[in-house]
Amino acid sequence: APDIPVANVQQHLRELQSAASANGGNRAFGGSGYRASLNYMKGKLDQAGFDTKIHQFSYGGRTGYNLIADWPKGGSSGQTLMAGSHLDSVTRGPGINDNGSGSAAILETALAVARADLQPNDHLRFGWWDAEELGLIGSQRYVASLSRTELSQISAYLNFDMVGSPNPGYFVYQDNPTISRVFTDWYRSQGIETEYTSVGGRSDHASFARAGVTVGGTFSGAEGIKNWSQAQKWGGTAGQPFDRCYHASCDTTSNINERALDVNTDAIAHAMWTLSG
Ligand code: PHE
Ligand code: ZN
Ligand code: ZN
Ligand code: ZN
Repeated sequence: APDIPVANVQQHLRELQSAASANGGNRAFGGSGYRASLNYMKGKLDQAGFDTKIHQFSYGGRTGYNLIADWPKGGSSGQTLMAGSHLDSVTRGPGINDNGSGSAAILETALAVARADLQPNDHLRFGWWDAEELGLIGSQRYVASLSRTELSQISAYLNFDMVGSPNPGYFVYQDNPTISRVFTDWYRSQGIETEYTSVGGRSDHASFARAGVTVGGTFSGAEGIKNWSQAQKWGGTAGQPFDRCYHASCDTTSNINERALDVNTDAIAHAMWTLSG
């Protein structure tokens, strides 16, 4: 896989920050900041040659919008490798680490697929979910919209929710050993020892896992506190949260550790290239 330019990922984060700033300071479900974020993502993907679709649903009297992007080259959809991130923020702030970071990282990975004119054995699909912050609603509705056959064609779903935490950890979802190994081996090759985490029901991979899909992902930490041994191996500050601005108004473009964002985006690209053959 190519080394993904972190400057491009940072540029996407600035655009998401602007989407929030111009629309009341957030990118939450039901608001104009979310729509602006969605339009930015869709524009980039359309321009790069993806087939994009907006999957609309209603929840609590409001309309939600998931974005699905299929890469038209490579294998047929009978074997689909999927990556996804939630694009909505909480109402308290712009949600740049949570989850502009995952959203921008998979966007730039998709754009790298296009630049490489990749023709993998598997089919590649990317998804951006709405209303995660209200209880994984968007991803649940997407999964519910698929037929049994369509679901069985998803060979794996990889989830990225918070990948640029300012006091970062390097956590790999432990759900599936084949997928987690692809990540842990790659981080080790970069000199980073990961830890396994059980994200459980806390992000959108749970919607897929409950439907029987194989899942994986990486995570740089939320409100949890970095312990002494984690600070020894990862740097940063022991006794402080991985993200002190989690779900707060200070989750802005200043709330990103660029090295974590860089390494995690490269890890996503590595996994997408490797697992799609
Ligand atoms: N899903 C959580 C949120 O959006 C963040 C989170 C991700 C927490 C992964 C734990 C593990 O608020
Ligand atoms: Zn959140
Ligand atoms: Zn999140
Ligand atoms: Zn890089």
